[in-house]
Amino acid sequence: MNVTSICCIGAGYVGGPTMAVIALKCPNIKVTVVDINEQRISAWNHPDLDQLPIYEPGLKEVVKESRGRNLFFSVEVNKAIVESQMIFMAVNTPTKTYGEGKGFAADLTFVEKCARQIAEVSTTDKIVIEKSTLPVRTAEKIKEVLSSNNNGVNFEVLSNPEFLAEGTAIQDLFKSDRVLIGGDETESGKAAVAALVSIYSNWIPKEKILTTNVWSSELSKLASNAMLAQRISSINSLSALCEETGANIDEVSKAIGMDSRIGSKFLKASVGFGGSCFQKDIMNLVYLCRYFDLDEVAEYWHQVVKINDYQKNRFAKRIIARLNGTVHQKKVTILGWAFKKNTNDSRESASIYVADELLKEGVELHIFDPMVKAEQIHQDLTNLWEARNETVNTISARLSNCIFHDNPTTALAKTYAAAILTEWDEFISYDWEAIADQMMPEAMVFDGRNITSPNEKVNQYFLGK
Ligand code: NAD
Ligand code: UGA
Repeated sequence: MNVTSICCIGAGYVGGPTMAVIALKCPNIKVTVVDINEQRISAWNHPDLDQLPIYEPGLKEVVKESRGRNLFFSVEVNKAIVESQMIFMAVNTPTKTYGEGKGFAADLTFVEKCARQIAEVSTTDKIVIEKSTLPVRTAEKIKEVLSSNNNGVNFEVLSNPEFLAEGTAIQDLFKSDRVLIGGDETESGKAAVAALVSIYSNWIPKEKILTTNVWSSELSKLASNAMLAQRISSINSLSALCEETGANIDEVSKAIGMDSRIGSKFLKASVGFGGSCFQKDIMNLVYLCRYFDLDEVAEYWHQVVKINDYQKNRFAKRIIARLNGTVHQKKVTILGWAFKKNTNDSRESASIYVADELLKEGVELHIFDPMVKAEQIHQDLTNLWEARNETVNTISARLSNCIFHDNPTTALAKTYAAAILTEWDEFISYDWEAIADQMMPEAMVFDGRNITSPNEKVNQYFLGK
């Protein structure tokens, strides 16, 4: 099959960058990215590439080259479906906040809606691709929905999970460790897999394109995220033990990671992992295990999230304790709101939870992040409290104790404590000795990422040391 026209439903952190790279690498394929969010689509079409809705190093260069040539962003979802041979679904799959599986299962409303729309408007055969992260056996449900099409159209459903990490998305897409494609073992299934392989093989070496059955592909995505997060929770759990014993977590991590069987990646202790996916995907895995009566397996993975919650809470409590428990109306500064460096994404960032604990103690919280805007921080906190059914009065009282800064100088002046929560490079290069002079005389720096160097002029707390 010669693929010349594809579309992607969902112009978010996955749909946007992934399709931009496909368009760049496959100039003969027309790539249309569609979304119901008009604001997001206009930002993708903004003439000023600094206004793209997502900040990712290298993204604007890729968009610049392809946009208007063979890469298009649009709100015309039906038109894109009709005109495409292949349809990627890269819509959000958040944790359910209601009903059966609340707090654990993935909410598949958006995926199902896409499938329904594809079924309704398609008049020619389509390859439908699960790009979103989905529970194992979702393809079965998608097929069921697609079968409601009355135009005699044949649909092949493939699983092609995305493994990019934010902040390095473009580099990850250019040089993926692997591209995973799951498809049916039937003749038409194999042909669909071959068509998708032909797209990726424009830039990914053949040996890195792994084809499996659909269920293995779906489960491998959840399992990969769970394994990555499990390493972080493992090292974070040991950081607590280091603090009690005089061991140093960075030294322990290095010693562990030098064992080639273990490897050094994802062993950096932190205030806790954030991001839209790790927690969501593990909870989804826990839900699936419980569904299949595998309670011990469910509990094993659930513990990864519990340790992450423990670590965020432990860090906030450490700040309060080191300030002698008297933090009411004291200025405390959070440096870094994004869940990791080089992104403007703050979904599930550890900062949200640390801020919440501090604000509950009546801290006057000052916040600075080089990329995340004040409105977003405001929204993150409001969302958390609304989800916990806090009253409007409580929410507005707490928000009035949050002061957002567009520079670190005012954020840190006369502060009692600076908490580094994102590993932004610029925090490393600050002149901490000069900053110490501007903070309160007894001020402390709480380095939740262990990125700063020891400094005689200021009291410091390093995680796991
Ligand atoms: P996102 O929220 O940034 O983007 C999803 C987009 O889908 C939104 O813009 C939303 O408006 C749009 N959408 C929802 N329903 C729609 C519909 N019916 N029609 C048209 N548009 C619709 O989400 P994301 O971070 O890009 O994640 C998407 C999926 O990819 C999730 O399943 C996630 O788990 C997975 N994933 C994310 C990452 C990541 O780094 N963010 C990495 C790998 C996999
Ligand atoms: C993660 C995975 O790395 C991707 O492969 C996957 O595609 C993606 O989730 C997804 O499915 O959404 P991402 O969340 O963007 O990517 O970023 P990571 O680099 O994995 O970092 C996640 C969190 O863990 C961040 O808060 C980061 O600071 C933290 N982390 C990471 C640590 O605390 N220590 C480490 O050693 C590594």
